[in-house]
Amino acid sequence: MQSRTIYLIGPMGAGKSTIGRMLSRELNLPFRDTDQEVEERCGADIPWIFDMEGEEGFRQRETAVLALQMEEPSYVVATGGGIVTREVNRRLMITHGFVVFLQASVATQIKRTAKDKKRPLLQRSDREQVLADLYEKREPLYRQTADLVVCTDRGSPRHVIQEIKQAYFSK
Ligand code: S3P
Repeated sequence: MQSRTIYLIGPMGAGKSTIGRMLSRELNLPFRDTDQEVEERCGADIPWIFDMEGEEGFRQRETAVLALQMEEPSYVVATGGGIVTREVNRRLMITHGFVVFLQASVATQIKRTAKDKKRPLLQRSDREQVLADLYEKREPLYRQTADLVVCTDRGSPRHVIQEIKQAYFSK
């Protein structure tokens, strides 16, 4: 059994946590979520961290969590949508893992995040514009970091998982 960590990257609403949990069960690997670990280590939620420390403070915490995970065995890791904005994060994931870009259209992202109250970047009225701008900026970074790109707009999570497993084991 191959033992590299699988990193799921992609925009908010791409399905990283849902797919990640299911995939970890199938592969019998522990599941990690960088957002959740940042919150646990800090003892506060992401909106609070953004309020008190700004996005930069959150990004530093995110990198610290990612770097710590490198010291441990293999996982399936769901990352936050902005993880690729730091070069150090991209390098860490490329070097230590198998990276999957879960791609989703802006329309899908909007639908899946419609009721969200916990993502600081989306607590405004022009969500669609925000998501479109972020995607334009980040899409090249997702692509250059990924070993595999899988679209999650259509098809079941099960189908996405099959694609990931096939690529992971043949690499
Ligand atoms: C962010 C995405 C969020 C979370 C934070 C910032 C981003 O994670 O890390 O709110 O910059 O795109 P999800 O992609 O899991 O929603």
